[in-house]
Amino acid sequence: MKLMAGNSNLPLARDIAAYLELPLTDASVRRFADQEIFVEIHENVRGEDVFVIQSTSAPANDNLMELLICIDALRRASAKRITAVLPYFGYARQDRKPGPRTPISAKLVANLITQAGADRVLAVDLHAGQIQGFFDIPTDNLYGAPVMAADILERTGGQNLMVVSPDVGGVVRARALSKRINDAPLSIVDKRRDKPGVSEVMNIIGDVKGWDCILIDDIIDSGGTLCNAAAALMEAGANSVTAYLTHGVLSGNAVERVTNSALKELVITDSIQPTEATQASPKIRTLPLAPLIGEAIRRIADESSVSSLFD
Ligand code: R5P
Repeated sequence: MKLMAGNSNLPLARDIAAYLELPLTDASVRRFADQEIFVEIHENVRGEDVFVIQSTSAPANDNLMELLICIDALRRASAKRITAVLPYFGYARQDRKPGPRTPISAKLVANLITQAGADRVLAVDLHAGQIQGFFDIPTDNLYGAPVMAADILERTGGQNLMVVSPDVGGVVRARALSKRINDAPLSIVDKRRDKPGVSEVMNIIGDVKGWDCILIDDIIDSGGTLCNAAAALMEAGANSVTAYLTHGVLSGNAVERVTNSALKELVITDSIQPTEATQASPKIRTLPLAPLIGEAIRRIADESSVSSLFD
């Protein structure tokens, strides 16, 4: 087995390598003067089971292209099996046509990764489970919920918790977390979004008064969904609101927004490399994914069960 890393999240790739007690494959991913990407693998990978770790986070197009070129280089170097490890799968939110004459870019990106030569995909908390079906190759979707649940139980002792989904679409995810924290009760924020990038909280389904609310979602991007939900919950009498999100996209002034929000704390994972601003925020904490991803890689390489990681 070999591990290869693109440049999008080297700290996570190094942590996965440390978990597996394997070195990262000696390779260079460079730019020509005109910004074309060039990949060179400096060791033999012929016949190897290779895992390429790359989040297609911002700059999404550059990181995606880097991934495709790494896969191409491995395929042409006769790697036996190539697994694209995508701690964060950018473009996932474009998984349906929101209107006439619009693309389904998540499917296009899945096609590109497959056509480049990937044999398998390993992803984390895909925006929608059915994106697995966009890939015509075996795709494992890991869940961040066990990592989050362990942290919640350790920090709170599991007392007085209510799990809240910030929108109707996230109820399945919220229910899965609730099961792991003593079947905590559920509430839903009924969110209406008038135009992209602007979110508006309309209604809370459930009585949150006096509860310590755990907001759960897959992605925080502008922070609008989460910060508005937190404000609405506090207004409705919640005792506190803490948020757990897998992918800290945190674009624009999202970090500032979170820092100034009603949230007690925002807990994200390192599926996307945290920026300096994120690390400096007193309200944001990062959970490591390396043990989960590393263990899944080990099991794929050993041909053993990945789903049993979540039993
Ligand atoms: C939406 O379906 C996602 O699950 C997130 O709620 C959304 O992408 C968050 O975006 P923002 O932080 O910009 O409100």
